Amino acid sequence: MSMELIAIKWENGKLEILDQILLPVISKYVAVKGVEDGWKVINKMQVRGAPAIAIVGCLSLAVEIQNEEFTDKKSLRQEIEGKLNYLVSARPTAVNMKIAAEDLITLSNQLKKDDSVSAADMKEKFLKAIDAMLEKDITDNIAIGHHGAQAILNNGAGDGPVRVLTHCNTGSLATAGYGTALGVIRTLHSNKKLEQVYCTETRPYNQGARLTAYELVHEKMPAILICDDMVAALMRSRTISAVIVGADRVVANGDTANKIGTYQIAVVAKHHGVPFYVAAPLTSVDFTIPSGDRIVIEERPEREMTHINDQRVAAAGIQCWNPAFDVTPAHLITGIITEKGVYRPDELNKLNILQIQEDDRL
Ligand code: MRU
Repeated sequence: MSMELIAIKWENGKLEILDQILLPVISKYVAVKGVEDGWKVINKMQVRGAPAIAIVGCLSLAVEIQNEEFTDKKSLRQEIEGKLNYLVSARPTAVNMKIAAEDLITLSNQLKKDDSVSAADMKEKFLKAIDAMLEKDITDNIAIGHHGAQAILNNGAGDGPVRVLTHCNTGSLATAGYGTALGVIRTLHSNKKLEQVYCTETRPYNQGARLTAYELVHEKMPAILICDDMVAALMRSRTISAVIVGADRVVANGDTANKIGTYQIAVVAKHHGVPFYVAAPLTSVDFTIPSGDRIVIEERPEREMTHINDQRVAAAGIQCWNPAFDVTPAHLITGIITEKGVYRPDELNKLNILQIQEDDRL
């Protein structure tokens, strides 16, 4: 298999990210020298995808803290809390950065209270916890790939091979590696169970055409690109075994925020009787929100719609509405694929997810 794409380089205390605005034409890494850079690369979407946002945000804090000396734990704790909250403000819908920030603030509170821990120890333990996020994300994604591939084959697809559709980008570029929904597709492919994967362009930012298509070609998967408005025609004219998408925030009742356009694919899938799966690590599950209508949906600049690479493609003077995400109601979702297994949306409530998260994280 070819070398996997690396979106986040973290070596010897140096952080670099693959600039996803320039892909697929130019492959260039940019240095992230601290929290200010971290906020900017997330906000400008040079790095994007819910898990990657959280990991780059936290690593940008690690870059800063590693070179500072702290004589007292109070100032370290204050810096951690202030800077993490700032990073959360870079993009509002994906919950992973917020959950990571809460976990790390809890950890710093615990370390501050513990008299056996010095300021230097506290800093070291904190940096180790951030380091661990990268590795855990990859392990979780491999488990998601395994559970998801099984679920799709068990749900009417028999022994395969399957024909699947995905939306946006949920691969190596959106995570620490392997991917979530794209990880499931990767697993199907390596088990020789993938006949065809269709990916949507994902207007307006084109994560599908630019990034997913790039990953699929890179991995030599049998892939076909379609425009967002071709989904219904595709399902009518060709058999699709399942839709698999990622998530920016799954809430307690199973409603799921994901890239704009996900909801209409779910509606069309329901109409055609195609199973619709959401693949997401538990770091994307927000149990504090009861239903999807309470999720804040980010609205992005009009320019992402009116221009492509500085070239105007929409009539000057037209008004635009550019929500970056939509919410797919739980009743349209067949299963939520997590690292712990696949659950119906109404089963999420039965799981003590908060406890699992607490045991698993940090
Ligand atoms: O605006 P983006 O590109 O950050 O949106 C990405 C998505 O919607 C992904 O589907 C989601 O973050 C899951 S990535 C594993």
